[in-house]
Amino acid sequence: MERTLAIIKPDAVSKGVAGEILSQYEKAGFKILAMKMLHLSKKQAGGFYAVHQGRPFYESLCAFMSSGPCIALVLEAGDAIQKNRKLMGATDPAKAEPGTLRKKYATSIERNAVHGSDAPETARFEIGYFFNGLEPVDNQG
Ligand code: CMP
Repeated sequence: MERTLAIIKPDAVSKGVAGEILSQYEKAGFKILAMKMLHLSKKQAGGFYAVHQGRPFYESLCAFMSSGPCIALVLEAGDAIQKNRKLMGATDPAKAEPGTLRKKYATSIERNAVHGSDAPETARFEIGYFFNGLEPVDNQG
């Protein structure tokens, strides 16, 4: 089993599709091990996306991610990282496959509804950014 960090971004929360997205994680076979809603500051968003610092979209991305509440989740499944990337679809919704979360819910390459870790090291950093070691509930049977 593998863990990945997912975020339901402020655009999806404000559109009222967070529940639908949660349901699709469950239907796809993910176990939700941890979940919290929080309104990031610009600095907190910047820390999460530090790897993108210096890229042309960084400032705007941090403003967007701190524009309203988001929901952070730890999802578990076999091959969870790749499985979630498939469920999300391409970063740019114009290039996302039909049926993917971004195709259904994203507005633009920035306001793209969901985030998912892209590799095991990133998942470790991202899970640790939002959750302490005791929070993921892994005794669900
Ligand atoms: P995410 O998968 O969370 O990772 C980085 C985010 O930056 C991405 O989703 C988008 O929200 C945002 N972004 C905005 N413009 C771009 C771009 N040109 N390329 C990649 N990511 C972008």
